[in-house]
Amino acid sequence: MPNFEVPISPDELAGLSCEEEVYSRIYFSNEKITVKEGPFSESIFSELPEKNWTLLVQEVDHWSPQVAQFREYFKFLPSWRMDDVTISYATDGGTVGAHLDLYDVFITQVEGKRIWKLENKARSREESTGDNLEDNPDVKLLNNFKAEQEYILEPGDILYIPPGYAHYGVSIGESLSFSMGFRAPSVRDMLSTYFDQILSQIPEDELFQDPKRTQASHPTELRMFSKENLPQWPGGLGFPDESFLIPFGEFLTRPLRGFWLDEEIEIKELPEEFTLIRNGSTRICHTNLDKTYVFVGGKSFTLSNKEAVETFLQSLEVSSDQLQKYLSDNEFKQFLLELIKTHAYTLES
Ligand SMILES: [Fe+2]
Repeated sequence: MPNFEVPISPDELAGLSCEEEVYSRIYFSNEKITVKEGPFSESIFSELPEKNWTLLVQEVDHWSPQVAQFREYFKFLPSWRMDDVTISYATDGGTVGAHLDLYDVFITQVEGKRIWKLENKARSREESTGDNLEDNPDVKLLNNFKAEQEYILEPGDILYIPPGYAHYGVSIGESLSFSMGFRAPSVRDMLSTYFDQILSQIPEDELFQDPKRTQASHPTELRMFSKENLPQWPGGLGFPDESFLIPFGEFLTRPLRGFWLDEEIEIKELPEEFTLIRNGSTRICHTNLDKTYVFVGGKSFTLSNKEAVETFLQSLEVSSDQLQKYLSDNEFKQFLLELIKTHAYTLES
C-alpha cells in the first residue's frame, strides 16, 4: 500500500466512539466475551484495563474524509459492493471472538500485530446457527471453531476473508486494523425492486379481460388462460407457467367477509348421513395440475382424487349419498372436515 499514512489515531477513534451517531462497541475478552455498546463517555477510556479489550468503530469512513480515502485502495472492486470501513483498536489479548460474517472482508493491519486463525471452508447456515453458537447474550460466537490456518499480520499486511469463513483474531500487544467490508444485496431485495418498477407501469384500474374464453367445463375449475388471453406484461416478462395457478387460486379465494374469523368448529368424524352446504361467503375453486388443488379461504389443499373433488364441488349442496364412494379416502374425508371446521361449509345431518 504505497504512500499509506495512518489516517486516524487511537485517540481520535476513541473520540469518535463518544459521538451519538457513531456505532461503536467495546469487547472485553476475559473468560467470556462481553460487549458494551457505545456511545461512550470519555471517562470510560481512563478506567479500562491494560489488556484484553477491543474498541470497534463502524462506518468510520462516513465521518472521516481521511479514512474514506482508504477505500481508494479497493478500487479494483466495484464501489457499489463496498460497505464500510470498520476500525478496531485492540490491546494485548483483545479479540471479538470466533465468528463469521456473511460478507467479504479485507482486514488491513495498520499498526502493531494481530494473529488470525481461520477455518478452511465456508460454513453453511446450519453450521453457523443453533447448537454451533456459544451461549452468549452479547454476541454470536462459534463454540466449535477449528483453527485450520494461521497468519500473523504486521503493518501493511492484508487478509481477505470470504463470506462464511469462521475467523478468530487476537491482538499481540496494541494494534490497529481496518476492515473494508463488502456486502451483496439480497436476491429478494433485488427482485422486489425490479418488480415494483414493473408494477408501477401498470395502471391501477387495468383489469384482466378474457374475451376468448371457452365455456367452463366445471363451475369451480381454474384453468390456465389460453394464449390469446394472456395478459400483456411489461418489461419483456414471459407469462408464468401453470404453477402460477397455485398462488393465484389462493389469491382469488381470500375471504372478504363472512364466518372465517369465527372460532373453529370441533368435529372429528362425519355422521352416517349428511348434507354439506357451501356458505354464501365461501370462495372456492380448484385446479388440476400434478394433483388436484382446492383453494378456499386463501389456502390451498392438495388432493389426489380428482373425481371426488369435482363431484363434491359440482353443486352448492352435496349429500353423503353422492359422496359415498369417496368417503373411505381419508385424505378427502379430512378435507371435508376441515371445510366444516372453518365454516366454509355447513353440515346438516
Ligand atoms: Fe469478522
